[in-house]
This record gives sequence, C-alpha cells and structure tokens, in this order.
Amino acid sequence: MTAAPVTPAVPTLSDAQMDAFWMPFTPNRQFKSNPRLFVAAEGMHYVKSDGSRVLDAMAGLWCVNAGHGQTRIVEAIQAQAATLDFVSSFQMSHPAAFELAARIAAIAPEGLDHVFFTNSGSESVDTALKIARAYHRANGQGERIRFISRARAYHGMGWGGLSVSGLSRHRRDFGPLLPEIDHLPHTHDPDHAAFSRGQPHWGVHFADELEKLLALHDPATVAAVIIEPVTGSGGVLPPPVGYLERLREICDRYGILLIFDEVITGFGRIGAAFAANAFGVTPDIITCAKGMTNGAVPMGGVIAHRRIHAAMMSGPPGIELFHGYTYSAHPLACAAALAALDVYNEQDLFGRAQRIAPLWEKAAHALRQAPHVIDIRNIGLLAAIDLKPRDGAPGTRGAEAASRCFDDGVLIRGSSDTLVLSPPLIVTEEQVETIFRTIRRALDAVG
Ligand SMILES: Cc1ncc(COP(=O)(O)O)c(C=O)c1O
Repeated sequence: MTAAPVTPAVPTLSDAQMDAFWMPFTPNRQFKSNPRLFVAAEGMHYVKSDGSRVLDAMAGLWCVNAGHGQTRIVEAIQAQAATLDFVSSFQMSHPAAFELAARIAAIAPEGLDHVFFTNSGSESVDTALKIARAYHRANGQGERIRFISRARAYHGMGWGGLSVSGLSRHRRDFGPLLPEIDHLPHTHDPDHAAFSRGQPHWGVHFADELEKLLALHDPATVAAVIIEPVTGSGGVLPPPVGYLERLREICDRYGILLIFDEVITGFGRIGAAFAANAFGVTPDIITCAKGMTNGAVPMGGVIAHRRIHAAMMSGPPGIELFHGYTYSAHPLACAAALAALDVYNEQDLFGRAQRIAPLWEKAAHALRQAPHVIDIRNIGLLAAIDLKPRDGAPGTRGAEAASRCFDDGVLIRGSSDTLVLSPPLIVTEEQVETIFRTIRRALDAVG
C-alpha cells in the first residue's frame, strides 16, 4: 500500500534560491531557465508543482523499486526518527543494524554473509575496492593491488569508483585517477547482437579479453575484477550468455576477487534479490545501494564472502578494517531497509518483476520499427532504446525524445541518444503500455 501524497503548498523560489543549489549531473543554466520540480509522489507517479502527475518509468533513479510512498516504509522511518535518531556504529551500534545485515545475507547468494554498511553506491564501490586490497594483504599478498573493470561501466563518483569507471566524459576533468587500473572491452556488439532479447547469445568471447589483460599485467598483481553484471547507466547491456561464468572461472584460476556492482541490479530489478542469484554466478563481493531502502533514505552496503571476512578477522585483536562512515548503519536507513525488505517480500515484488518481464520485453521490442531506433535491449525490468544520433549533434535527439515524453506525462532517462527505462516493480500492464506508447509518440515527433 502506498500513502496518499500530501501535496504541499509550493513556494515561489527566488532567483537567488534557484542559483544557490549547484545541481549534480545537470546542465544548471539550462535547467534553471525551465525548472522541472516535483513536490510529491505516490506509487507509480510524481506530482509536479502545477499539480499534474508524471508516470515514473525510472523508479526515481533506478531506486524506488517498490514505488513511491510505501506506507510501511514511511511509518518505519517516522517511528525510528522518534525513537533513536542517531547512533554511530564505531564501537557501538543498535539492534536493527545487525538484524538488517542478517536479512540481507539471507537473500544474497550462498557464502556472501557479511555486510558492511555505507551511505551510497559510490561509497559501496570504494569500500569494496579497499576491502579487496586489504583482504589480499591480510593473506600475505600485498602485491595484489590492480583492479580490472570494463568500458562503459559506471561505479559512482568516489575516486576509486571514478578510477574504475569506463565512461570517458566522467573521468576527463578529474585526473590523475588511481593508476593501477585497466579495462575490459564492453560487450555491446550491434553488428552481431542488435535487438537481442535478454542476454545476447553473441559475445561470450569478450570475457577472454581478461586473460590478455592478466598476461600483460601479471595476474599475481591483480586484486579484483569489478563489473556491473548488467551495465546500467552505460546503456543497459545484459551480459552475453556464458560471459559471467567465464569471468568467474578466470578469476578463480588466478586467485582474483570478482566484485559485482549491483547498485542497480540489486533488490529485484531483474527478478531476483540480486543479479548474482538470477544468473547463478556468485561473486566474492556484491556492492549495493538504491533499492536497499527503496530510495527513501540514503544507504549502501558491501556484501562480502565469508572467506574474505574470515581472513580479515584472523589478525591480532583490534580494529580489523580501518574504514567506515559516520552514517554507516544509520538508524533511519536501517528502519527503511528492513521495511523495504518486508514490502518486497510481502508483495512478492521480485517475483512480480519476473512475471511482468516478458510483457515488458514485448512492448519494448515493438518499437523496433519506430523512427530513429537502431537497437533495443532489455532484461528484467530494464530496457534501453538506442536512437541514431543526429549528424553533427550527438545526444540531442535522445534529449529531445526524453523531454517530449516528460511533457507527455512519462519520466524516462535520456542518456545521450539512448532512452533508458527502469520502472518501479509495481508497474502494471496498462502502465507498461502507456510508457511505450508515449515513447512511440515522441519518436514519431522528433526530427
Ligand atoms: C552500478 C552503479 N554503481 C555505483 C553507483 C553510484 O551510486 P550513488 O549514486 O548512490 O553513489 C551507481 C549509480 O547509479 C551505479 O549505477
């Protein structure tokens, strides 16, 4: 059940107020000349400041997996704020932190049963990279310092996450980044696998590129391979059939940790608790965030295999990992996450995502003949539609299409010339149809 939104009175913002907020990942000057403000949300919808409603086909930003304003989550946060507003987890804590860790471990793949709490996906990635190095050091292999990630990867905005990022525009202004990093090629090959449904059947050989990088760098210097099991922000790229299995085999052969960044895929997005469960490939570490609290309170986590945890616990008595955040396991976040897990479970939302995925796939691929469409990909409740870029003006067609959808009442994400979709898992069949019908109208209209 979702709470009815309380639509607040909307204040008129002054120019100085508009100017004061330096917005993230936003063309600030453009935005402020035509601001897009939401004032409330309920279920599948946002409410705009003029009172009109927008169907949220992005689950906020890949995070509101159970839809907006789930009553149970709202009430849990309210009750927690009134009972225990804050306690640090540095040498003290509170019961919900332990309860939550155990509940997450219970839905993670077998063996991944220790959870380190952070406040975001970025912090989860940086934490996972640090744990990987610390683990090898604890095992007497301190020379394992390199990380291998992948082109088109998004791993957040910390220095570690940015260093393993595979998105060149994100990296460009901030170098030098961490040096001991290399990248696998991404797995998108439209010549062989355009319009593939779910996992492409072409591309397992991209995993063999790992062998080449290991030969170049010496596998004994590599701490971990980090990948998103399904590339998310980089354009929804499901892994080719057999690809994740092969990466796992190669990592095992050389004693290299495999990290799955499940900040998007965690908590039901592809029809299981984690992509690792869905694909049947178990990494050594999972990073997560977003859907963990249904987006209601910032929170992230690193789920580590018991072997890693045991190695870290085997040293002399004292602090085992010199790492943590003031707000690790924040009581409000723990309350929200426990309630979110209840909601996912009671409403069987991971199962729901699985059941509605075939309809989602069919509706997405029905756009194949729409103007400008050059590729469509989908998995679980994710989809991406690539548009042919305009000559000399890449990105503008995608931005215009997304903007038309918004004006037509549907929030999607335009990422350059790729339209990206990731609706709450409560999306109905009618809403799936509305989403793709709206995109079709936008594509018919853009030049
Ligand atoms: C795969 C992945 N990792 C990390 C992050 C960073 O998460 P956050 O924005 O919460 O720091 C994101 C954000 O979208 C992500 O998609």
